[in-house]
Amino acid sequence: MWGGRFLSKPSDIMQAINVSISFDKRLAEQDVSGSKAHADMLARCGIIVDTDNAAIQIGLDDILLEIKHGTFPYRDEFEDIHLNIEARLTELIGETAGRLHTARSRNDQVATDFRLWIRDQLDEFDEALAGLQRALLSQAGNTADMLMPGFTHLQVAQPVTFGHHMLAYVEMFARDRARFLDCKTRLNESPLGAAALAGTPYPIDRDMTAAALGFSRPMANSLDAVSSRDFALEALSCASICATHLSRLAEEIVLWTSVQFGFVTLSDKFTTGSSIMPQKRNPDAAELVRAKTGHVTGALVSLTMVMKGLPLAYSKDMQEDKRPVFEAFDALALSTVAMSGMVADMKPNARNMAEAAGAAYSTATDMADWLVRELGLPFRQAHHATGAIVALAEAQGDALHELELAEMQKVLPQIHQGIYDVLSPQKSVASRTSYGGTAPENVRAQIKLWQQRL
Ligand code: ARG
Repeated sequence: MWGGRFLSKPSDIMQAINVSISFDKRLAEQDVSGSKAHADMLARCGIIVDTDNAAIQIGLDDILLEIKHGTFPYRDEFEDIHLNIEARLTELIGETAGRLHTARSRNDQVATDFRLWIRDQLDEFDEALAGLQRALLSQAGNTADMLMPGFTHLQVAQPVTFGHHMLAYVEMFARDRARFLDCKTRLNESPLGAAALAGTPYPIDRDMTAAALGFSRPMANSLDAVSSRDFALEALSCASICATHLSRLAEEIVLWTSVQFGFVTLSDKFTTGSSIMPQKRNPDAAELVRAKTGHVTGALVSLTMVMKGLPLAYSKDMQEDKRPVFEAFDALALSTVAMSGMVADMKPNARNMAEAAGAAYSTATDMADWLVRELGLPFRQAHHATGAIVALAEAQGDALHELELAEMQKVLPQIHQGIYDVLSPQKSVASRTSYGGTAPENVRAQIKLWQQRL
């Protein structure tokens, strides 16, 4: 493409370090869209004649079909996707193809393609995450009353309901969707027409190409347009946060499916066996979702390091922006659907969870709250007295509700029979009616809201 100034061909090593077609071929369809919009604009602005534009459009349409049918000849010798498509266009329509690159550079071209590609992905994430939210919501719908222990420090803390726990993730994934959407709004500006870095002397219409490609406006600064990759960094940041959320749910599923917890059973579809231990049911999908978070966050760190310290405007370093994004987005897309499948099929085990919900003095806070409400104790004092009662119960091997009233009265003589009303996990969750609390009536109200939203 630049043979005019060169006497010899690049060395094989130069070729090897420079070539990117093996990965940037994923931008093929976006590259064709960008070129079609650019050629139309050139014709409309009188920069190329209509007959040339018509030939270019036909050639690009043929190329698009080749791409879709898998017959497009991707060739290393043409370095990247942009030069591959231009070379193919030349084969198909001849010298007219050479008019397409008027008032454009690969620098604004690649920035445009990449924005379009990420934009499509963000839409797909939004749908995939909505699917995951629906799976969680449907679990919640059946389990608004189902007791489970709530944990802090992974120690039993207070009873909650499984439905409440599912809805916690619905909220998290809602914020992930909002972050992706916000990222899309900022990303959705067109670099096309910034040319190499300084703009172009041709009378181009950047609003026209921006509109044709669904961008909200052209980017205002040509240097910024070709050299910024914060749209990719931002998408990766959002992806990294989302993957982190997925990894937390994945970790919970790994714990919950262990014999020691026994809170849920995954379906056969999302479990694997062992080649040696015939009894095993392993939550491999959950483990892999947990692990893929490393790739996603690794990609964010990788691209951040590529971009760090790069002077304006374009540098070839930026060619290394694509692989981390492709890898991270593939990992996140697969993780999201795998998680949706696991959640949709998993069976909560009400009996085990209820048993665990009432264990480990999980209603001690309810006792302290009762002492405040019924006996007028300051909370700190109630906390202390309850701690002493828990110690007593523990010494005798009793649960709180099994402890005799006389024993409790040794700690606090005013305690009366009414205390037993608040010591069951059912009563505990039912009492937590503060906004956002785990009371089944609250959970049901939230489920209804989410059903409308989703
Ligand atoms: N393959 C290149 C990339 O992905 C395209 C832009 C090349 N620009 C240049 N001036 N060499 O970044």
